[in-house]
Amino acid sequence: MASNFSFSRVPDVHVGLGSTGQLAGVAKALRVQAPIIITDEGIVDLGLLNTSVSSLTATGVRPTVFSGVVADPPESILFEALSTARKNGCDGVIGFGGGSSMDVAKVLSVLMVGDQKLGSMYGVDKVIGARMPLIQIPTTAGTGSEATMVSVITTGKTTKAGIVSRTLLADAVILDARLTFGLPPSITAATGIDAMVHAIESFTSVRLKNPMSDFLALKALRLLSTNIRTVMHQSDNAEARQAMLFGAMCAGEAFANAPVAAVHALAYPLGGNYHIPHGLTNSLVLPHVLRYNSPQADELYDQLVPVILGADRPYADKKESALVLAEYFTKLAKELGLPTTLQQMNISKYDLPRLAKEAMTQTRLLINNPRFVSEKDALKIYQQAF
Ligand SMILES: [Fe+2]
Repeated sequence: MASNFSFSRVPDVHVGLGSTGQLAGVAKALRVQAPIIITDEGIVDLGLLNTSVSSLTATGVRPTVFSGVVADPPESILFEALSTARKNGCDGVIGFGGGSSMDVAKVLSVLMVGDQKLGSMYGVDKVIGARMPLIQIPTTAGTGSEATMVSVITTGKTTKAGIVSRTLLADAVILDARLTFGLPPSITAATGIDAMVHAIESFTSVRLKNPMSDFLALKALRLLSTNIRTVMHQSDNAEARQAMLFGAMCAGEAFANAPVAAVHALAYPLGGNYHIPHGLTNSLVLPHVLRYNSPQADELYDQLVPVILGADRPYADKKESALVLAEYFTKLAKELGLPTTLQQMNISKYDLPRLAKEAMTQTRLLINNPRFVSEKDALKIYQQAF
């Protein structure tokens, strides 16, 4: 455990049922008069924006809604949003939705200030200059994007690239579980597992792991594992939904500082090539990466077993902890109705070598993994997940 460390987090967080009603006050504190709300059509159709928009307009703040975000957002969405923001004289950004909307909101807030080209922002610490005030309001409990300084943008047909910069860390976050009541069970399940993966990979990261990220990862895993089944069966259980949303943000803060690793590196090619939702791609490879990491990570996995399994913890010595977790997550995925093999996703076994090759490009993530992953290893993991 590092004795010296730095930790970055969102300075202003509002948690609670109906907390979107506080949006106007949060915007005013940031001197925002005309925010652009970045969201998708589904959110608008479900009426989830209503409370926020009325909170803003009632106090004279003039929001512009941009609802053009799609999953795996391409660069073109950013340019469309930028032109809408400029046309309407917007002076702040509110990300409202899942990871895609919040990721677009982050980069947009930078594009609205200065003239740095998007192409020069990809990578770590490449963002120059300031951004517009940024507020994030997640509507799924999973990505943790509201708490991170990363945006993932689709740059080619199947390729995604990340922009990592402290500039992307929001000024404020609102966690209102009421926004998550209507989530379809498949999204609730996959995003919940994504959040658990964030906490696990952060806890076992060989780079930048620190006492604060560990504390948050453990808190997140306890909240998420205790409540994930409840929210699947009782969609509007406010307490459980709020716990999931808070747990996902804790996991987000953990991995914003002690980053994720091979599960995400192997998941990204699945998302890029087959447009499988991010949480599900993680869930598909997770048990196999846990087993692969076993020789190097069992000490740490052993600490996670009682947190995740609680009283259900089977007897296990340290060497079995990866196995225990792998079995837990396979069982959980089945219970939550998620597919558990690549074959079920109609992925051809002839695609696996190409996927392994693509996974190797995720060096930003692979360097955090407790065990070195070669292209050959990645292929083996995909074959086991097949
Ligand atoms: Fe993730």
